[in-house]
Amino acid sequence: MALVTTTEMFKKAYNGGYAVGAFNVNNMEIVQAITEACREEKAPVILQVSKGARAYANHTYLVKLVEAAAIECPEIPIALHLDHGDSFETCKSCIDGGFTSVMIDASSKPFAENIEITRKVVEYAHDHGVVVEAELGALAGVEDEVSVEADKAHYTRPEEVEEFVAKTGCDSLAIAIGTSHGAYKFKPGTNPQLRFDILEEVVRKLPGFPIVLHGSSSVPQNYVEMVNTYGGAMPGAIGVPEEQLRHAAQLAVCKINIDSDLRLAMTGTIRKFFAEHPDKFDPREYLKPARANIKELVRHKLINVLGCAGKA
Ligand code: G3H
Ligand code: 13P
Ligand code: ZN
Repeated sequence: MALVTTTEMFKKAYNGGYAVGAFNVNNMEIVQAITEACREEKAPVILQVSKGARAYANHTYLVKLVEAAAIECPEIPIALHLDHGDSFETCKSCIDGGFTSVMIDASSKPFAENIEITRKVVEYAHDHGVVVEAELGALAGVEDEVSVEADKAHYTRPEEVEEFVAKTGCDSLAIAIGTSHGAYKFKPGTNPQLRFDILEEVVRKLPGFPIVLHGSSSVPQNYVEMVNTYGGAMPGAIGVPEEQLRHAAQLAVCKINIDSDLRLAMTGTIRKFFAEHPDKFDPREYLKPARANIKELVRHKLINVLGCAGKA
């Protein structure tokens, strides 16, 4: 199946009470791990590419890897999405270069400016058959080397969402309800709690409209432990409780972004491999178990968190 936009995926997810997983891809093994799990579980999927991923792996390599996955997995719909597009130019280059969906993230700009730049991206994207995710509110954490301090983060203001969507024409909206980027989302010993009251208020203002959650890794403690056991130092890494993500997926949240969990699985597995096999130096030997563990982690997310297994 050729790459698809998220329009149909989101309609089915909204009505079906589940979310589609949006996983970040940076190399071949990650693309393979995600799409093999999705093919086996018959799940739709969004493969997303950040500015950092394009800088690391090159736009063309990533597009071709995702196109290869679509050829290998013809039974499932796959969308190729730009994660955190920072300008009209970045979005345009992805729209021109084979992506089916882009995010314009002007959430750090004043409201009117966010509307203006989002509107411009939407006009260009829609003219080219591409859909647009926009963002209101500011998540804490680190993305593309930009760190948003916790005190600069703010929840989405539900009173702004109707005007924003009406004026921009965006196809989905990322909101801030307490998730954050990276592996350190909550302070150890605290009780992580997403603001479902804000989500519900947003849904009342935008009935039927697809909502997106960024920063939704749950930071599996078995992989944090693996990293720490085999030479790493990630004390106090804590993520979003999976039950809360499952609940969000049953509401209007149609896309859930997961990146850090896959990084942890890969890094933990490779650290363990080297600790147990100090003599090995063939990259295929340590990337193979890393890929297998990412695949099983994605399978777990599809079945137990997103609820999208069997929905392709
Ligand atoms: O939200 C950001 C994603 O985790 C991508 O991270 O910008 O380091 O590629 P990156
Ligand atoms: P995590 O850091 O929680 O995996 O979030 C990823 C993300 O939001 C990508 O846009
Ligand atoms: Zn994000």
